[in-house]
Amino acid sequence: MRILVLHGPNLNLLGTRETETYGTETLEDITHQLDALAVELGVELEHYQSNSEGALVDRVQAAAGLAGALLNPGAYTHTSVALRDAVAGVDLKFVEVHLSNIHGRESFRRTSLLSDLAAGVVVGFGAASYALGLRGLVGYLSDAE
Ligand code: DQA
Repeated sequence: MRILVLHGPNLNLLGTRETETYGTETLEDITHQLDALAVELGVELEHYQSNSEGALVDRVQAAAGLAGALLNPGAYTHTSVALRDAVAGVDLKFVEVHLSNIHGRESFRRTSLLSDLAAGVVVGFGAASYALGLRGLVGYLSDAE
């Protein structure tokens, strides 16, 4: 089972960016944690981060043959009809994750253009949101097999 782990804009800055909101773990730390969990779960991960909306759309389209995806689209969560259309267009099975609890922050973050298409959503647990999301996604995909 191959799974895409996709990170949107500014998530390359994790570790130094707004640490009171996003914590001190880096994207590399999260990647290592997920790779270790993937071994435990018996799945393979493809990691991708971009600050560009079009590049994220291209990567989602290229994931058409994969089992599913773990998506943290960052700020594009709240704005990108194009990313939503890409996910719907290739019928990607995915779990949406956010480090912060987007529902407890500014009003513009409380809307996600992706959540209604997701198998599940994990928010607010910092870097652990990714691990929780991966466990949920693998369970979901296994049940669907
Ligand atoms: C985020 C939440 C978004 O609102 C924000 O733009 C991010 C990170 C999160 O993981 O908490 O870049 O997706």
